[in-house]
Amino acid sequence: TYVIAQPCVDVKDKACVDECPVDCIYEGPRNLYINPSECVDCGACEPVCPVEAIFYEDDLPDDWAWYKDASVEFFNEVGDAGGAQAQGPYDHDHPKVAALPPQGK
Ligand code: F3S
Ligand code: F3S
Repeated sequence: TYVIAQPCVDVKDKACVDECPVDCIYEGPRNLYINPSECVDCGACEPVCPVEAIFYEDDLPDDWAWYKDASVEFFNEVGDAGGAQAQGPYDHDHPKVAALPPQGK
C-alpha cells in the first residue's frame, strides 16, 4: 500500500484525493490517511502531492515508518467505509498524529 506521512500534517493539500480511482484517501483534522485495505497500489496519488508526503510503504523514510502502522491502526478503529467522499472527514486523528506539535509552514 501507499502511506501518507508527516509532510501532510497541518498542510492537507488534498491534490491526492482527486487522483485516487478508488476514493480511499480519508481526511482527519490534521492529516489524511490512505486505507491500506482499499488502496489498489495504483500510485496515482504519489507524484501529485506538493510536499511529497506520499510513499510506497517500503520506501518510507525511517523516521516516518510508523505512519504505516498508524494507517492500519486508524482504519482498524474507524472501519472500512468503502469511499472517502461519502464518508466525509473523521473528527479525530491517529493518537500519534494528534500528539505532534504544530507542523507545516
Ligand atoms: Fe496531504 Fe499531500 Fe494529499 S499534503 S492531503 S498527502 S496531496
Ligand atoms: Fe489511491 Fe494512491 Fe492507492 S491513488 S489507490 S491511494 S496508491
